[in-house]
Amino acid sequence: EIGKTSKEEATGFGHSHGAGAGAMGGEGNPTDLSEMLAEGTKESHDRAENCQFVKDFLRGHIIKDVFKRATVALYFVYSAMEEEIEKNKDHPHIAPIYFPAELHRREALARDLEYFYGADWESQISLSAGTKPYVDRIHEVGEADPVLLVAHSYTRYMGDLSGGQILKKVAQRALKLPASGEGLNFYQFEGITSHRGFKQLYRSRMNELELDPEAKQRIVDESNRAFGFNMMVFSELEEIGNTIKEEVQEQVFGHAELIQEDDF
Ligand code: HEM
Repeated sequence: EIGKTSKEEATGFGHSHGAGAGAMGGEGNPTDLSEMLAEGTKESHDRAENCQFVKDFLRGHIIKDVFKRATVALYFVYSAMEEEIEKNKDHPHIAPIYFPAELHRREALARDLEYFYGADWESQISLSAGTKPYVDRIHEVGEADPVLLVAHSYTRYMGDLSGGQILKKVAQRALKLPASGEGLNFYQFEGITSHRGFKQLYRSRMNELELDPEAKQRIVDESNRAFGFNMMVFSELEEIGNTIKEEVQEQVFGHAELIQEDDF
């Protein structure tokens, strides 16, 4: 979905699942959590969009092994997040944004990993150093401060519902993955027909949470932290990509003594 400037709330997409207060009314209330998050994470979003790994990815410059490792990282992140959400699903700050059938990605990611690594995928993957702090933080907030899971859910799921479709097409083309969608289940939200409509519902649910201004601000801060953790994962993936490229260079050009002038 391009068109970040369009005000989705203003379209009145016809969702009335919740009481709906936050999902209508053109400009949105600046004290609504959804507005505070959108506004308060703008800079983080800009930074994320402009980091090298993401820019390379968008250009279709992605190495299959790196894409597989990205899928592994996401698997660990979503496993942690969804485990903590499940534990807290009856918590008054989590229940309204609990949408396992629509949002949860762990199983989709497991299918993608089975496609990439085969039946014994579980024995082949491990939690990377760049992903561990993110996973640890999710467990920490799930245990000690579950309201902050709202921030982690928002940061990932709303992002997936926004930029995800672009990323899917880019990956499909660059990696020549089958049109059937194998390897890309993560990007396919089977339980959601309208991404835009669902995002409106999710925003309105966030806005109905009973939260004082301080708690809202802590959620915005935690979302910015979550963006930071995502950037750490991207940096690690970028480094792995660079290492692979150097190795290829080495294989091609490294053995100068074997290359004759007239080989060119
Ligand atoms: C929203 C694109 C990276 C998290 C959006 C929107 C677009 C977009 C177009 C606006 C959708 C709308 O108005 O409803 C992209 C592109 C990216 C990227 C092209 C680069 C590949 C990321 C990353 C994250 C992220 C890395 C975090 C991990 C979010 C969130 C929103 C969002 C949380 C919802 C903002 C809100 O309405 O409150 N993204 N994004 N995005 N994105 Fe991204």
